[in-house]
Amino acid sequence: MLLNAKRYSTALIALTLITGTACTKKAETPAPTDASAPKTEAAAPAAPAGSDIIRIGEVGSMTGSEATFGQSTHNGILLALKEINGRGGVKGKKLEVTSLDDQGKPEEAATAVTRLITQNGAQAILGEVASSRSIAMAPIAQKYQIPMVTPSSTNPKVTELGDYIFRVCFIDPFQGAVMAKFALENLKVKKVAILRDVKSDYSVGLANFFTDTFKKGGGTVVVDQSYSGGDMDFKSQLTSIRAKNPEAIFVPGYYTEVGLIGGQARELGLKVPMMGGDGWDSSKLTEIGGAAMNGSYFSNHYSSENQAPEVQQFIKTYKEAYGGTPDALAAMGYDATHVLAEAMARAQSLSPLDIRKELAATKDFHGVTGKISIDAFRNAIKPAVVLKVENGQFKYQTTIAP
Ligand code: PHE
Repeated sequence: MLLNAKRYSTALIALTLITGTACTKKAETPAPTDASAPKTEAAAPAAPAGSDIIRIGEVGSMTGSEATFGQSTHNGILLALKEINGRGGVKGKKLEVTSLDDQGKPEEAATAVTRLITQNGAQAILGEVASSRSIAMAPIAQKYQIPMVTPSSTNPKVTELGDYIFRVCFIDPFQGAVMAKFALENLKVKKVAILRDVKSDYSVGLANFFTDTFKKGGGTVVVDQSYSGGDMDFKSQLTSIRAKNPEAIFVPGYYTEVGLIGGQARELGLKVPMMGGDGWDSSKLTEIGGAAMNGSYFSNHYSSENQAPEVQQFIKTYKEAYGGTPDALAAMGYDATHVLAEAMARAQSLSPLDIRKELAATKDFHGVTGKISIDAFRNAIKPAVVLKVENGQFKYQTTIAP
């Protein structure tokens, strides 16, 4: 609804070209395509033994109300692949990615991952961003025993679905605690309202984890309201929230709805700060919410203001390739790809089992989103940053360690 179709098609063309330059064999790397397209089309054969290509499958929301998640992640993945292939690939083979668009729908994500594994011969999967879609994909990757690395799905359940499922990000019990502590200690608020997306595992989980820590710290959730992803009118929930006079509103949703909620909250005279999680991270947040988002806070995986040389180098390379500052999704896509490639490089063979073993053994990988070590539950333990929305910019506030 809020997508500009013309702009997306331009973006798609740009992605196609970049995909081409990232790999040696242009024709074999299709641009992101619709997961539900006819199965006979664009299906690459499984990589034969002795092939000089390692096939990676990527599933992402390239269109729909979370399109920037898929697009940014895809950009980060391509940038990493270009670097990896530029220095000779892995075990003398080039990495090639086939990307499928799930349109932001869990059923499409499931179809896409099945197709990548059974028809394209994917040897590993990157994706998804949104937890509900990773939850739809994980049992399939697990069933076929193909390693799957989600760059940024934070709901705990994702990696609980099997020992082939990994992530390079922190999980929501931590992220919820980060924002609860920030509310209590930095904003010094004790009465908070919650507005959660009941259709999203991420949103429901994060709302619950926030509540746990906030209550333990002496806070009260004065009202807990819900919506369904895709909704556009939040006035009745916001009216109920207004009646309870909260000092802040926690909205752990994705940027399209959050932007709309911000605008409608201000229209109803609700002036208290809004807070959220990584799902806010998109330049669209303030395009949709405008000035209403100013003075709001959210937790995230990375800040582009981090002056560490590797972060600034990544930002510079990304800007040269795509023209904008990378968001956390891009950084996580980039890190996930490097973590996977390093695991493949260390692995005794490129069998899924050997790749899986080395993913599990990832230790102190220096990513642009911080140091990544995979724990016994296949999660990464990393600090989070808190950012403040100020005139369309996300300003670094603080880092909160686990
Ligand atoms: N963590 C979110 C989820 O699990 C996805 C997300 C990550 C969104 C990073 C934006 C930035 O659904």
